[in-house]
Amino acid sequence: MAAAPFAPSPAPRSLIGPDAPVVLAEGVHWIGALDPDLRSFDVIVRTANGTSYNAYVVRGTAGVAIIDTVKAEFSAAFFARLEAVARYDEIRFIVLNHLEPDHTGALPELLRRAPQAQVLLSPRGLPLLRALLREAFEHYDIRPVTTGEAVSLGDCGLEFFTTPYVHWPDTQCTWLAHRRILFTCDLFGSHFCDARLFNDLTGDFRPAFEHYFDRIMRPFRSFVTEALDLLETLDFAMIAPSHGPILRAGPRAYLQRTRTLATARLGAGPGSGAEKSLLVIYVSAYGATAGLAQAIHDGAEQEPGVRVSLFDLEGAELAPLLDLIEVADGIALGSPTINGDAVRRIWDLMAAMTDIEARGKLGAAFGSYGWSGEAVRMIETRLQGLKLRLPEPGLRVRLHPSTDELAEGRAFGRRLAAHLCGRAPERALDVTEAAAG
Ligand code: FEO
Repeated sequence: MAAAPFAPSPAPRSLIGPDAPVVLAEGVHWIGALDPDLRSFDVIVRTANGTSYNAYVVRGTAGVAIIDTVKAEFSAAFFARLEAVARYDEIRFIVLNHLEPDHTGALPELLRRAPQAQVLLSPRGLPLLRALLREAFEHYDIRPVTTGEAVSLGDCGLEFFTTPYVHWPDTQCTWLAHRRILFTCDLFGSHFCDARLFNDLTGDFRPAFEHYFDRIMRPFRSFVTEALDLLETLDFAMIAPSHGPILRAGPRAYLQRTRTLATARLGAGPGSGAEKSLLVIYVSAYGATAGLAQAIHDGAEQEPGVRVSLFDLEGAELAPLLDLIEVADGIALGSPTINGDAVRRIWDLMAAMTDIEARGKLGAAFGSYGWSGEAVRMIETRLQGLKLRLPEPGLRVRLHPSTDELAEGRAFGRRLAAHLCGRAPERALDVTEAAAG
């Protein structure tokens, strides 16, 4: 299918009307909604400029496709804009690039109004759609699509690219070759509400673009890189994401910037590429957990091919430590047990680890205790929840470690290092069994 020459639409600098669709290209309209008052998205992203829920209509000679919808409370604006450019009985396809509620809030009502439409989504979107529609799921024409599949609208068509985890497992992108527009849903989005819509007209949203990446995409950066590899071969003239400005001026620069952001903040460590990295991070109340940390560090140092680093979390900023964890191969976290719990700094660190890609790294826990010693099991459970692999049961000592217990700490560190280097039999600790034991 030949690509049409691209010419930016003459969108005015003034605010768009409350129910007006906006032209992206011939036959392509924005029918989304603006949410300027939002100050926190999904609880985790601050949104000083609010956000937008971008949805689109594509018209071909053989019908109309809707690409994504909006958050439920913005349905009225979505339907008003849709009705300004299409009739419901013209809708042949509804494309769901992602099923999070900010993009599917208006879907159940849209399907009631256009029940003949075929719903196109990734295979991993099916269980989400079933949960959203409940018993109505069976009444609609629902078709999973994967990379390389396409549908025709007559003189133009939509092609699909499966791009999991940008942001959820179900995410996909949709390509309108006829107009060289790539619809990417969350990918390349920003939480930045500006009624001028196009990136050559809006205010400066670069911090919003980067903050969005950090909070939404960074935990999935390897998936982001895979998606970029898949999409960069397309000769796109415009990226139409589902949040924030539509990228028609220099769209490829946003792909390149995203690739840079998806690269770990810190490159490979000071050692060779073959060298593994283990971080021993602790908090200590009376020096007992610190002593254990030092022993683990010293033991791990004995194992060739591992660079070990020791950090007292009391004196560390979280952000640079997260950058280090992101490129480390393993972490051992130590906390005393105080009031039956791990200490807050350790919880803060483990909470922040949701913002980085930690899955698959080696994890371990250790700590000193007085009476009950719950902290180690709590850390193990949390690390397992973050999808780290735990090859060794955590190390606990009562009060200050004895000479024998320090030797046990060194042996523990050495075993962790051996696991990192593949010199120990692979095993995964069952935290529930360990807790019962
Ligand atoms: Fe904009 Fe992951 O939803």
